Amino acid sequence: MKNVKKKIKKLERKICYHLYLYHTLNKPKISDLEFDFLIEKLDILKKKIGIKKKFSYLNKIGSSLSKKLKTVKHLTNMLSLESINSIEKLEYFIKKIITFSKKNNLKKPEFCCELKFDGVALSLIYKHGKLIGASTRGNGIIGENVIHNVYVIKSIPKKLVGNNIPKLLEIRGEVIIHKDDFIRLNQSFRNKKGDFFSNSRNLAAGSLRQLDPIITKKRNLSFYCHSIGFYTPFLKFPNSHFNFLKLLDSWGLPVYSLRQLCFNVKEIVSFYKEVKKKRSSLKFEIDGIVIKTNSIDMQNKLGFSSKFPKWSIAYKFPSKKKITSILNINFNVSRTGLIIPVAKLKPVFIDGVEIKKVSLYNQKNMEKFGFCIGDLVTICRSGDVIPKIVDINVENRKKNNLKPIKFPIYCPSCNSKIKNKFGDNFLRCFSGFECVSQRERMLIHFFSKDALYIRGLGKNIIRKLVDKDIIFSPIDVFNLKIRDLVNLNRIGDVSIKKLLYEISVSKETTLSRFLYAFGIKDIGKTVSVNLSSHYKNIENLMNSKFEDLLLVKKIGKKVASNFLSFINKEENRKIIYSLIKIFKFKNN
Ligand code: IVH
Repeated sequence: MKNVKKKIKKLERKICYHLYLYHTLNKPKISDLEFDFLIEKLDILKKKIGIKKKFSYLNKIGSSLSKKLKTVKHLTNMLSLESINSIEKLEYFIKKIITFSKKNNLKKPEFCCELKFDGVALSLIYKHGKLIGASTRGNGIIGENVIHNVYVIKSIPKKLVGNNIPKLLEIRGEVIIHKDDFIRLNQSFRNKKGDFFSNSRNLAAGSLRQLDPIITKKRNLSFYCHSIGFYTPFLKFPNSHFNFLKLLDSWGLPVYSLRQLCFNVKEIVSFYKEVKKKRSSLKFEIDGIVIKTNSIDMQNKLGFSSKFPKWSIAYKFPSKKKITSILNINFNVSRTGLIIPVAKLKPVFIDGVEIKKVSLYNQKNMEKFGFCIGDLVTICRSGDVIPKIVDINVENRKKNNLKPIKFPIYCPSCNSKIKNKFGDNFLRCFSGFECVSQRERMLIHFFSKDALYIRGLGKNIIRKLVDKDIIFSPIDVFNLKIRDLVNLNRIGDVSIKKLLYEISVSKETTLSRFLYAFGIKDIGKTVSVNLSSHYKNIENLMNSKFEDLLLVKKIGKKVASNFLSFINKEENRKIIYSLIKIFKFKNN
């Protein structure tokens, strides 16, 4: 308990330090993801000892006002938004608003749904339609005066146009940087060995808080407004947020057009999905949608909590990236002899899926990135399935003096020299069945569901039989005796008898399954079916020639020569002929 408390204190200090780097100096040393990771870690520790109160950094950034910029008090506090990340929480929010409207005899609520811009908050003051003030959020009450920089942001009008403009108007919105500008600028910083920004939001914040507007101008910032802070009463005051945005647009303020009025959870979810789909094609970063009660009257009645408006919520997109560390790097030997480096990771969950390892592909990739044990890496699930490393924390590498892991020269399984024979980016072990790893994987494939499947003969039993040198080639499975199986852990008498029975009745198969079982390069399920329907029986197949192989559907020169080199190898022929003696073939 004492130990955990100490850890919590230490972690809180670390978080405050990073908040200072981020908000005050604009020079974060860690990415947002790494920061979230610290917060997550802290919450876990607190949970461990029953502390319910989560770390609130909102009230810890009071110290974040830059000493170099002048400060200004906002006309109305600049609050933040509560965020959610599930439909259940959205349902809860909508239900609360509906209940409130019923209780207060108000009209059925409508919701204005918009983009959640991933930028930096800005407040603008217009007096008689003329821009006179601009400030960052600061601590929500007092912000930093950045008017000198706002003058160089093209999309912010210096004078409003149109009718019924209030005497005093406080506009809220988000300063963003376009994705392509972010890449371009970061590249130039890298070239000059200057600061490097981990995301476009940090770069936008850093650019907005420059002392020299010439620098800000070069950053090509943009702005979109999303709400109003203070205003003096004016004619034709809109009754809804949606119409408010329309009005701002008519005054020449930049309002992004993608927004929608929704009436229920279903419509909001469908808008959320639509935006999520469009996300990658947008010119700037967004991190979710914002849902706002549309009626201004209802907004006023709902009011604010200490931090958030009660009438609005941010429905964020799930983070598909996580930071974790490399615990080890193993070199696996695939069924076909490829040597594949695999990083064992400290397990992390992305979208509910636990990720424990990630492929480092090949030697070329290993050398390019110099992966080390202890590396802090950002993981994402590419295409939502396969995990991939998208970022490496180089600072951490330097700090801990980590050394890159070298690619082996010999096969980690059979110790034979590994080679690159096909001119591709892969090193391979060419020992085939002689290599235990390949043998194990070949046998697993041989008896897998689409090949010569034997009920009860799973991966684990095959591994144990190979490990104990009981089976070497597939034919050995058909000669197994009770004594071979009794010594394997966790397999009882009944299971042994069942397995031996299943083996004895499994000697009937189709030619295509038989062929597929050998896992010959490029001979997958479809090609196996094509070959067996062309050659009809195994004898014809074993005597096939290059020219007539080319007549088979989906077989080109490369596949044909792979196939021939396999069936003409002495050891393969031996295995095939020993098996066909005991197998009976039925039609495909
Ligand atoms: S409305 C009273 N609408 O997200 C608060 N905010 O994480 C009104 N943001 O502080 C905010 N897009 O800086 C609103 N469409 C949008 C937004 C948006 C981005 C920012 C805003 C806010 C932060 C909360």
